Amino acid sequence: MSEIEFTLKALREAVELTPNNFPLTQHYVRTLLDLTRYEEAESFLKIQLDALGQSIQLQVLMAEVFYRAGKNSHALAIVETLIASDAPDPSALLLHAKLDFRMGNVQQAVQRYKQAIEIDDTVTDDEFSSLLGIRTEEKEWSDDEEDDYDIDDEIIEGRIRIQNDDADDSGSMGKLEKPKIKFDQVGGMESVKEQIRVKIIYPITHAEMFAAYGKQAGGGILLYGPPGCGKTFIARATAGEVNANFLSIGINDVLDMWMGNSERNLHDLFEQARKNRPCVLFFDEVDALGASRSDMRQNSGRHLVNQFLSEMDGIDLSNEGVLILGATNAPWHVDSAFRRPGRFDRVLFVPPPDQIAREEVLQLKLDGKPVERIDYKKVSAKTHDYSGADLGAVVDAAIEAKLHEAIRTGTPSPLTTKDLLAVLKHIKPTTKEWFATARNHALYSNQGGIYDDILSYLKIK
Ligand SMILES: Nc1ncnc2c1ncn2[C@@H]1O[C@H](COP(=O)(O)OP(=O)(O)O)[C@@H](O)[C@H]1O
Ligand SMILES: [Mg+2]
Repeated sequence: MSEIEFTLKALREAVELTPNNFPLTQHYVRTLLDLTRYEEAESFLKIQLDALGQSIQLQVLMAEVFYRAGKNSHALAIVETLIASDAPDPSALLLHAKLDFRMGNVQQAVQRYKQAIEIDDTVTDDEFSSLLGIRTEEKEWSDDEEDDYDIDDEIIEGRIRIQNDDADDSGSMGKLEKPKIKFDQVGGMESVKEQIRVKIIYPITHAEMFAAYGKQAGGGILLYGPPGCGKTFIARATAGEVNANFLSIGINDVLDMWMGNSERNLHDLFEQARKNRPCVLFFDEVDALGASRSDMRQNSGRHLVNQFLSEMDGIDLSNEGVLILGATNAPWHVDSAFRRPGRFDRVLFVPPPDQIAREEVLQLKLDGKPVERIDYKKVSAKTHDYSGADLGAVVDAAIEAKLHEAIRTGTPSPLTTKDLLAVLKHIKPTTKEWFATARNHALYSNQGGIYDDILSYLKIK
């Protein structure tokens, strides 16, 4: 057991021994949140709420879990009821202010934050204050004028755009980066790499050739497949490969953060990419855009899809030098309008790594680590169905075990084939579940043979 697991276990035991010790519960939950283990935090708190009743403290904590996990509408549902009373809870107000801010309602956020601090100034959150452009050190809170807060709208807009404090890494919202990884750090995926080269890299590196043949670049590639098999990874490597900027957007984030004015912001994102060309504009979780939305976002969802499509078509503004990649685990939820020519007109299956690719991934993951001669063939032969991420977890776990052994015995020794094989007992492949769902779609809604790759992977066809 790793040190972190050990600490968590100890904490959890302590909480279970003294269930009414709220500070301890809070500490445990926040520790989980800091480790981005949102689901664990959520299910743990659900149990607590059931067992101890819906205390305000526990409810606010639950809302915090949702907030940190990016489940904004869930968080909002809780805090809205909590602040509806005559004596609103200040922590709930603070959280509501943060949600307002995340959704772009800055004035609202300032007001609620101010109200929270008036009730109880111990809820002051310096980081949030500075995000709002409020000086809290002096604590000069007065009711009379809004102008007291002296907010520079432009600064705040800029900050909203880069603000991404709690989101997990799949949603590094609108952050421009220049990835260093290249295709050679992506194990296997030869055919995917080749298609990306032809469709989006050559038009940049051989622009004059394309021009000479009157061939226009354009359109994007949609990658789909089970989670953890390198879709996001290869998108980033594509940018690295051509030394381009990389702008990654999680659609769920766009929807959640900007309920209401998401259309305008989508335009801003495309603009940002156009201004920073060459730029790989990467849409993660595109299924969220096309999915039938059952919640409050349904109405705006349609607009957003249209906005997205017209931005992609680049009718008014050229998308030259903007390479569009999308990724999804659920391609069957992606609106077919996305797959027309000029849009995501290539749809590529990113399968779990085959045996040779697994060897490569393992080698990449063990690069620079103290290893004995590893029998990569043997390990890769025993890791059928493991995703790239699963293999990363295998290597991490083996190294961790080795480290603990070294600390215990006082003599470090290199990692062996046996060490890797030993952790396979605990770390199981995660792709099978995805294929259970994918199989049905491939069998029963395979229009135009779009999912033939899934069928041939499953050896059905
Ligand atoms: N082909 C691969 N080569 C090297 N590493 C990989 C590969 N596939 C997955 N990984 C590792 O697994 C992690 C998760 O992959 P990711 O791209 O996030 O999967 P997906 O987007 O398909 O869910 C990556 O950050 C990377 O470390
Ligand atoms: Mg991904």
